[in-house]
Amino acid sequence: MNLSNNEKIIIKVLKENGNKLTIDEIVNLSNLSLVEVMNALSWLKMKGVIKIHEKLNKNYVLTEEGEKALKYGLPEKIFLENVKIGIDDVESLKEKIGKINVNVGIAQLNNRGIKIENGKILVEDLERAEKIVSNNENMLKNYNNLDENSLSFLLKRNLVKRKDSILREAELTEIGKNIKDEDLVLIEEITQITPEHIQKEIWKNANFKKYDVRLFVPMPWMGKNHPLTYFINKVRNIFLSMGFEEIYGRNIVSAFWNMDALYIPQHHPARDMQDTFYLDGSVDIPDYYKIVKNVHENGYNISRGWKYEWDEKEARKLLLRTHTTVNTIKYLYKNRNKENIKAFMVGTVYRRENMDPTHLPEFHQIEGILMEKNSDFPMLLGTLEKFYALLGFEKIKFKPSYFPYTEPSLEIHVEYNGKWIELGGAGIFRPEVTLPMGIKYRVLAWGMGLERLAMIYYNIKNIRDLYLTDIEMLKSLPIP
Ligand code: PHE
Repeated sequence: MNLSNNEKIIIKVLKENGNKLTIDEIVNLSNLSLVEVMNALSWLKMKGVIKIHEKLNKNYVLTEEGEKALKYGLPEKIFLENVKIGIDDVESLKEKIGKINVNVGIAQLNNRGIKIENGKILVEDLERAEKIVSNNENMLKNYNNLDENSLSFLLKRNLVKRKDSILREAELTEIGKNIKDEDLVLIEEITQITPEHIQKEIWKNANFKKYDVRLFVPMPWMGKNHPLTYFINKVRNIFLSMGFEEIYGRNIVSAFWNMDALYIPQHHPARDMQDTFYLDGSVDIPDYYKIVKNVHENGYNISRGWKYEWDEKEARKLLLRTHTTVNTIKYLYKNRNKENIKAFMVGTVYRRENMDPTHLPEFHQIEGILMEKNSDFPMLLGTLEKFYALLGFEKIKFKPSYFPYTEPSLEIHVEYNGKWIELGGAGIFRPEVTLPMGIKYRVLAWGMGLERLAMIYYNIKNIRDLYLTDIEMLKSLPIP
């Protein structure tokens, strides 16, 4: 039988160690690399020299929470330490060490050394409580070597998780065992031919190592951008290629720019505390507010306004921007004397919404404005169609909609898996928004969700998956 040197080394190692070894053991004993061992083994298997056995190996690893607890202490430990230094009020303790630590601490220790009464923590048997904590701690430290009960305690608390792996073992067959030692003597093999081999005609009598391009090689993981970053850059490049200027803006803004300058009345439901993250404090607003106030109260030109008393205090409030339209409107105001404007930005916005598979309290919007002498509604539709087509979405649909600052207003929907998904809004800024600034032409504007688009693009079902730090998942996503 024709055997390569690596194959001979492996057969020898197997023979000397009971004819059966795991891959790791072979790597250690043979001084070969994993790739070399895997290649040689697959040749040996084909030649009938070895058999490969695969066994499921149950393993347990710490979860992120488990690692944290190991590093900084279990929640019940942090809890008890604080109780010991005299903090006995549940609410104040929550403020100090966080709700989770307190809740877990109570769940673990209530009636087992401590007691909760009227919001106070009473220590009944400190020794008992400490014993429980140190018991739990020991379990965590020895998570790799535990009985069923302790393991299920840690699993239930999401401190460890199961991680299976496959254990591969190679075993010599009868053919393998019968190979004689003299057939295992190593001879020099040429793996790469050099000029010297040719000039000195060494090749004539040399042994050449055979190649097989189908053999195992490990997957080389390359550095690449996070899928969201990749997608954002793709969107940016499309608008840049369409001749738009990229603009940037702050996340913390005044209600004035986020809403008032957009002619959103101060009693509009979108201003409710439920939707907006307000911050403490107030900020200066430009003198332009006097004009805005008047437009809200009495209108402008043929508009009659909203007819209410505009409150400067409301406009001075600070908030996390609820849409990136705050940045385009500010940009528009700054550049109100220009003849042409084509600007876009991608930025995060914030809304008090509950998380679900299609909602996040923080997400990105793709915002843009376009103004030129003859800008009109068809131009808005054409621009949006062009943008989505360049991203690969041919099937989009516009539906009439409403925003306080545009007229007409529309919603954009794209088709995905036979369903229409809403992706954002657009329209032409109302005269009440642009005329008081001295803007001459129609301003086409849009603000579209980025994450939902990215979900469709990557075929991801849950929006939260875009923000997971799961390196395995990220590695496995193809570079689109
Ligand atoms: N700001 C709107 C939103 O957040 C989108 C929009 C932008 C609508 C510009 C019209 C014009 O949903």
